[in-house]
Amino acid sequence: MTKKKLTRGKLLAAAAPLAAVPIVGKLALDGRAEASPHDHSAHGHTRTPTSHVQRAMGHAAMVGDQAPAVGGPNDLDALLYPPPALPYEPGRVREYTLTATDVDLEVAPGVFFPAWVYNGTAPGPVIRATEGDILRVRFSNAGSHPHTIHFHGIHPSKMDGVFEIVEPGGTFTYEFEAQPAGLHLYHCHATPLKKHIHRGLYGAFIIDPKEPRPPAQELVLVMNGFDTDADGGNNFYTVNGRSFYYARYPIRVKRSELVRIYLANLTEFDLINSLHLHADFFRYQPTGTGDYWEYTDTVMQCQGQRGVIEIEFAGTGLHMFHAHQSEFAELGWMGFFDVVD
Ligand code: CU
Ligand code: CU
Repeated sequence: MTKKKLTRGKLLAAAAPLAAVPIVGKLALDGRAEASPHDHSAHGHTRTPTSHVQRAMGHAAMVGDQAPAVGGPNDLDALLYPPPALPYEPGRVREYTLTATDVDLEVAPGVFFPAWVYNGTAPGPVIRATEGDILRVRFSNAGSHPHTIHFHGIHPSKMDGVFEIVEPGGTFTYEFEAQPAGLHLYHCHATPLKKHIHRGLYGAFIIDPKEPRPPAQELVLVMNGFDTDADGGNNFYTVNGRSFYYARYPIRVKRSELVRIYLANLTEFDLINSLHLHADFFRYQPTGTGDYWEYTDTVMQCQGQRGVIEIEFAGTGLHMFHAHQSEFAELGWMGFFDVVD
């Protein structure tokens, strides 16, 4: 195993020309070999990245079949489209089951990441409740390391996912009243915290207000990154877990009808991430709480920040969206809305 680390800066410097071919190939192999030698051997599933990955590095504006993304058009639907909001009903119990496992995720064509995940994906499933619901989350740890679920929100401290470490093979049930309304997060809070988060144990947690938001086409975008060479910096960036996925498969929405996007930042290592929309403006409500809405086309979030975007698209056609950190966009955090009548 080579000791030479491939830094993100070097990767980018090499990216524009096709000279990146051998570097990216090495990256994928090193990522699996070095990231966690004790629990992920590199044998058995060695694959060479397709030429699409290398081409993507220098051409961030590709769309459709040109865009190098893993999988089919509906693979991420369960992450993109949240469960429906339910009208407030006193005393209702909302139940979820989350299971932590170790899994190799293909985050870009031929590039695998030795992830720790809830229910098989990074980000994990969208958890949704209405303010006042009793949220009951049964957690099983089928992974190789101790984990927890730490929810953001207001709840008893013994339900906070900090003190009750769940060992491999163990279970724990979190139960508390869902509050306050807004867009929140959940993530593992076992130590070392950075490691447990960047491996993929996180997701979006929507609490709907008792007085419901207006009906809308609702989407969830969780921004994240993957350190595939285990050097403490991300090599690929995504929304919902796969680089360039929404460039390959643009998100279809209707013009002039309300679109609501729950946007959260679970990127490790990089202090901030952002979303920039082309050709239109949106309203942004930080944390999905309060009465303040910013009118903008770019929003920045620190690690753990999140908020609600609302927009009625003025025109039809492909509308690009991406991190305004160009580096993140060129490493996979780029997609399109396909606005139709
Ligand atoms: Cu963990
Ligand atoms: Cu947190």
